[in-house]
Amino acid sequence: MTAERVAQMAKIIDGKAISTQIRAELRDEISKMSTKPGLAVILVGDDMASHTYVRNKKAACEEVGMYSEVHMLPATATQDELLELVDKLNRDDKIHGILAQLPLPAHLDEAIVIDNIDPAKDVDCFHPYNVGKLMIGDPVFLPCTPAGIMKLLERSGIDVAGKRCVVVGRSNIVGKPMAMMLLQANGTVTVCHSKTQNLADECRQAEILVSAVGRAKFITADMVSPGAVVIDVGMNRDRDGKLCGDVDFAGVEPKASHITPVPGGVGPMTITMLLSNTLTAAKLRI
Ligand code: GUN
Repeated sequence: MTAERVAQMAKIIDGKAISTQIRAELRDEISKMSTKPGLAVILVGDDMASHTYVRNKKAACEEVGMYSEVHMLPATATQDELLELVDKLNRDDKIHGILAQLPLPAHLDEAIVIDNIDPAKDVDCFHPYNVGKLMIGDPVFLPCTPAGIMKLLERSGIDVAGKRCVVVGRSNIVGKPMAMMLLQANGTVTVCHSKTQNLADECRQAEILVSAVGRAKFITADMVSPGAVVIDVGMNRDRDGKLCGDVDFAGVEPKASHITPVPGGVGPMTITMLLSNTLTAAKLRI
């Protein structure tokens, strides 16, 4: 490889390594606590991906020495049964964090379930109270995926203040809270979405570009300005069935200053931030 090519290559942001480092820090802090933080995960139905996510969350709790419970309900569970379980967990002193794995089966109302989780135990940061606290710049918890991205930036020495940030995607889980957190960090933030005109032009303005659209290789090299930091939240399959992000990594990597790979970028951080929120919830109660 030529020296020129080495100089051009983007620094790969290693989410796996940063996640491992943060989990070691969490484990160390938890080992000194007399009451272990406890997380309850509610899983309704048979969605395969959700079962895998929940298994990973339970294993992550064990890795850092947290207590965890998984409550599995059949796909036929009623709204009342689910709310009864939430209420029981709200009152359980062993449990500091409650998470209802989404999506729920279609006959259940996600918004009502989230509204009924005690905001002090809402470690997903989905409850309107916590979303509002984030919006006014006084957060209790931080939504896990955007919080993981902020940590990746911080631990890679990337300062957001004054930078032009473009977020592609406006979901409640990633796009909207991501924009809010970048703004809180003094970035100048644009949010793009499916109705945005001249998306490529908007993306080319970005010094920090975050893509959370869920479309394989959607962000191509012509949409990225030289030296940009590129954060890929996507988890998609390409035409060959191979896991890939929203970003055409091969094309964009030579242009970016920093880039997150898929897998091994943002993904590992999400559960780590869930653990961090559960520790925060436990400390709130001590
Ligand atoms: N399903 C996919 N991602 C998430 C998440 O971050 N939290 C919950 N509760 N469900 C999810």
